[in-house]
Amino acid sequence: MQKHTTTNADMVSRSLAAVWHPCSQMKHYETFPLVPISRGQGAWLYDFDGKKYLDTVSSWWVNLFGHSNPRINAALREQLEKLEHVMLAGFTHEPVVELSERLRELAPPGLGHCFYGSDGASATEIALKMSAHYWRNAGQPDKTQFISLQSSYHGETLGALSVTDVALFRDAYGALIRQQATVISPDWRNADMGESSEAYALRCADALNAHLQQHHAQLAAFIIEPLVQGAAGMAMYHPVYLKRARQLCDEYGVHLIADEIAVGMGRTGTMFACEQGGITPDFLLISKGITGGYLPLSVVMTTDKIYQAFYADDTARGFLHSHSYTGNPLACRAALATLDIFSQDNVLDTNRQKAACMNSIAQPLREHPSVQNWRNTGMIWAFEVQTPRADFAQRCFHLGLQHELLLRPMGRTVYFMPPYIISEEEMQLLVMRTKVIIEALT
Ligand SMILES: Cc1ncc(COP(=O)(O)O)c(C=O)c1O
Repeated sequence: MQKHTTTNADMVSRSLAAVWHPCSQMKHYETFPLVPISRGQGAWLYDFDGKKYLDTVSSWWVNLFGHSNPRINAALREQLEKLEHVMLAGFTHEPVVELSERLRELAPPGLGHCFYGSDGASATEIALKMSAHYWRNAGQPDKTQFISLQSSYHGETLGALSVTDVALFRDAYGALIRQQATVISPDWRNADMGESSEAYALRCADALNAHLQQHHAQLAAFIIEPLVQGAAGMAMYHPVYLKRARQLCDEYGVHLIADEIAVGMGRTGTMFACEQGGITPDFLLISKGITGGYLPLSVVMTTDKIYQAFYADDTARGFLHSHSYTGNPLACRAALATLDIFSQDNVLDTNRQKAACMNSIAQPLREHPSVQNWRNTGMIWAFEVQTPRADFAQRCFHLGLQHELLLRPMGRTVYFMPPYIISEEEMQLLVMRTKVIIEALT
């Protein structure tokens, strides 16, 4: 009997009949078909008809060391033979203990305990609840409000959405959430002509000061994406804002939550972006790259002071929050293998060289007359394209696929957030083909 080989067409029609895809208007797939992926290798994804795509967005910013990484694969195989899962309430296991110990060593000083969730949004929920509960335990039950930056993104569950300032994601659910206030973002694209990114960040910190002065009695925490606001279109800002935010939060008795779900794990050039501001937040949120892009896992790290405020005989003073897969051993093992690669391959130093190489390779793209606001932080590059096309993002995505690139622009913003294992040849290919695509669309 002849073996049936799956084609792209088979997979797409089965998917459309059975799967409700995220972040999608399903009807649009009639015009812009899904991309079925059969396997991944290194920085490349392969479809069922033999075409390949360079994963320049690290599969929604999660992949660090390539698809099907042999070292992470081996660690997972070994873990599978020992323990796939056990609940973390009342039980513990080696991968979660080792991961918590290693993160404490790596994170900014003073973050002594790790609380686990599954995906990024659950980490945001945990931090918001933990912050408000801390203030309640500390005898200040009125501190239940939060602030975030304009254009912030912290996830799409209801609590996370309340501190997310992206109208498209939020508006349909406005009646379900308690929308929190925002303060002006230090995104340097909004600086005045001739104003440095540092001066602009300090000006924005003055606005934060004014807000805190007025509202601190009700405020539990200020939540920020340190250095790069991803969903805002890779908005980048000067680290002095982090330093000032830390000082102001201390001054007014408000927690600082650093959402490093997208920017942690080396993405901004240091293991955690907060390091560049020389600060320790009250809560550090990690997810996405922590498992190398293999399995859902998130971590909320917090200070001993906050941990101690929950430590009591009374159950109700404890942090009563759980997910079935909290601290899953396979996910923790993937995270440990990821941390091993960081240390064994000296990844942060190698990435600095790679970023310098990319910046020089990208010169012709940067100088293109339609390219504006070229920017780079660590292993993230972004720019706006001057184009009259309202459908630029979709067109760019589809032309990208024709040129073997998985590009996923946000509006007019094109960005590269590749896996760290991207080679010099792949960077060349990425830059040259993106330039061709920009030329076709401007
Ligand atoms: C800064 C930030 N916070 C939170 C999230 C939500 O993470 P998840 O999609 O895993 O829920 C994201 C996802 O892109 C993010 O970029």
